[in-house]
Amino acid sequence: MKTGHVPLTHLFLVFILYLFIYPSNQQNEPQICKQCSGILQKDSFVGQFCFSFTGRIAGRCCLQNETRDPQRITGLDLSNCSLTHFDNLQEAAGASIIDLSLNPIINMSDSAFEGFRNLSYLILPANMACPGGNSSWDKVEISEGQRLCEGQKSMCNQPGKMSVNCPEYSRCGPYGPGFFECNCGDNYHGYKCLREGEFPFFQVFGSLGASTFVLSLLLWVTQRRKAKSP
Ligand SMILES: *[C@@H]1O[C@H](CO)[C@@H](O)[C@H](O)[C@H]1NC(C)=O
Ligand SMILES: *[C@@H]1O[C@H](CO)[C@@H](O)[C@H](O)[C@H]1NC(C)=O
Ligand SMILES: *[C@@H]1O[C@H](CO)[C@@H](O)[C@H](O)[C@H]1NC(C)=O
Ligand SMILES: *[C@@H]1O[C@H](CO)[C@@H](O)[C@H](O)[C@H]1NC(C)=O
Repeated sequence: MKTGHVPLTHLFLVFILYLFIYPSNQQNEPQICKQCSGILQKDSFVGQFCFSFTGRIAGRCCLQNETRDPQRITGLDLSNCSLTHFDNLQEAAGASIIDLSLNPIINMSDSAFEGFRNLSYLILPANMACPGGNSSWDKVEISEGQRLCEGQKSMCNQPGKMSVNCPEYSRCGPYGPGFFECNCGDNYHGYKCLREGEFPFFQVFGSLGASTFVLSLLLWVTQRRKAKSP
């Protein structure tokens, strides 16, 4: 990307936008914790987990009690919330424990838990299957109208299953129940990890470039409107 061609005023506006967007994201607690009324109960499954790890309770969430990443959700309890579907659980992608029981869920997409590497307890209404199927979990149990999916299995080296092939210079890693990802080894990146020893410029500047483009488009459209009106 040649930044020399982008007017400095645009870059400045983007910078100002970032200043507004970032701090507000960091201070507010994650939206998903407020999706459901009430706060996390100490005697619930997620509540006990939170208590044992001295987590911080915020709404229906257990947050990591650490200065390094204080907004990270480690536990989420959306049980008994009259939810019929889940649009987006991605805010809780780092969680170890999620409780969605006692909800009249009718639909949950297969990819709802894609990227949930740390998820090791998932509680669902009994009529719902564990994501990725039984083979993606160490233990699947049904009791008292709830299904407990416990201990996420890695897809990377399951015996008796089709082996997962990651390209050369990469290794396979967990990426949520039923999912895997291929991580490029040290010094390799890019498509199929074929680039070696190069700084990943596109990742770093990708989002900045995109917002500059959108802003430029917006300016162009508004300017054009002005020009058209009599
Ligand atoms: C956070 O952790 C510290 C010690 O690690 C503990 O003293 C403190 O009470 C914890 N805060 C909460 C809200 O649990
Ligand atoms: C579920 O919520 C309803 C009303 O919000 C409450 O009356 C009921 O006791 C709750 N059930 C459980 C098992 O917590
Ligand atoms: C569930 O969602 C899928 C795709 O998101 C859709 O094709 C399907 O019809 C839905 N099923 C029900 C029962 O809503
Ligand atoms: C998954 O495990 C549960 C509980 O053990 C069992 O009831 C269910 O039939 C299994 N499902 C499949 C597809 O094997």
